[in-house]
Amino acid sequence: MQRYFIMLTALASAMTAIPAIGYAAESIQPQMPRGELLYRNHCIECHTQQIHWREKRIATDLNSLSGQVNRWQDAIGLHWTKDEIDDVSRYLNSTYYFY
Ligand code: HEC
Repeated sequence: MQRYFIMLTALASAMTAIPAIGYAAESIQPQMPRGELLYRNHCIECHTQQIHWREKRIATDLNSLSGQVNRWQDAIGLHWTKDEIDDVSRYLNSTYYFY
């Protein structure tokens, strides 16, 4: 009788564990804004965050920031649209620069 009870409890916890896994996977990967996604995919590999808060930064206002984003996407041949450049500039600004 006791063994039967243990099996039942094991089954019940297995059944509740399965949807919990699905839920956890979803909450770890929330919808990422496009600017952040693009930056993470294409740019972060040779930057550490320090590059954006070093003392002699090249980006000194919103304009030069988006100029740098444009320069870099061009340098690595991405052909980003103006919207994509804007999204990444906004992402960098709201994460590091705050102009
Ligand atoms: C091949 C390596 C490399 C890649 C890829 C790269 N960067 Fe850079 N980035 C650098 C280096 C090195 C610097 C600093 C020296 C310089 O600006 O020439 C820099 C500087 C910058 C700066 C200016 C930082 C500041 O305020 O001084 C911005 C903005 C920037 N990168 C954005 C981007 C974006 C957006 C991408 C993706 C499209 C990108 N970078 C991809 C290496 C890279």
